[in-house]
Amino acid sequence: MNRIALKNVRHRYADGTEAVTGVTLAVRRGEFAGVLGYNGSGKTTLLKIMDGIIKDFQGSVHLDGADIRRLSSREIYGKMGIVFQNPNDQLFAPTVFEDVAFGPINMGFGEDEVVKRVNRALEAVEMAVYAKKSIHNLSFGQKKRVCIAGLLSMGHEILLLDEPTAGLDPLGEYQMMDLLMKLNREKKVTIFMATHSVDLIPVFLDRLYVLSDGKVVSSGTPEAVFTAPEEMSQVRLRLPQIAELIYRLKHEDELAFGRIPLTIGEARREIMELFQRGNRQ
Ligand SMILES: Nc1ncnc2c1ncn2[C@@H]1O[C@H](COP(=O)(O)OP(=O)(O)O)[C@@H](O)[C@H]1O
Ligand SMILES: [Mg+2]
Repeated sequence: MNRIALKNVRHRYADGTEAVTGVTLAVRRGEFAGVLGYNGSGKTTLLKIMDGIIKDFQGSVHLDGADIRRLSSREIYGKMGIVFQNPNDQLFAPTVFEDVAFGPINMGFGEDEVVKRVNRALEAVEMAVYAKKSIHNLSFGQKKRVCIAGLLSMGHEILLLDEPTAGLDPLGEYQMMDLLMKLNREKKVTIFMATHSVDLIPVFLDRLYVLSDGKVVSSGTPEAVFTAPEEMSQVRLRLPQIAELIYRLKHEDELAFGRIPLTIGEARREIMELFQRGNRQ
């Protein structure tokens, strides 16, 4: 079942920039999906439309079947939250605990319930030991985790994340994606994220939409979307590195790979099989 559905969505900014030029997509209950596109392809604009921040768009956005333009902020933000690319735009309280507590306090919960919600949310993002720490002293990645905790403490069932791995080091990127996957699998949070990072997507996402010039140009599972390097470069993207390697071995060196694996694990299996078959087509 669809939780968010966009139909023929377009948006032009006041200065005339056509940032989103025709997007139809759906986010299904419980999935981990996302939009992939180069810088300036319209991802942030799209997320702001989906979250009800930009309202003067054309086309329609439905949240659980209801027209988002007819929903109050309270109705939208009771279910769905957005994590901006830069956590400094989102965090404002002096300490981690106070920041994460802001939402539940605003929702009118009593003190015991607030403490319970904050602790649970901080545990979910592995930040419980930082509760008393000043926000200022956190690393960029830790700040991103606190932003996510702030949404979880309000009980959001749907998270929109704008470039959640941007600005993190390689291990931090992986840990962030692993955290999101756990929230999705274990806490049943529906996730839709924007990214331009092709290497992490096939490992984690169920489904993605490729955005170019504000339009969806392809969609499906990572296997369906990542095709030939030339097609990816037409939308200013590339294949995941491991896929690029196997693609070249197959097409330029004529090694008999059946399919193009997208992850290290899949590549390892394909290579082992190839050895066992002795490179026969
Ligand atoms: N507030 C704005 N006013 C005018 N143009 C904007 C504004 N925000 C973004 N844009 C333009 O809209 C296009 C899409 O931007 P954006 O949605 O931020 O893309 P992405 O997140 O994929 O990098 C870009 O050409 C950008 O310059
Ligand atoms: Mg952006």
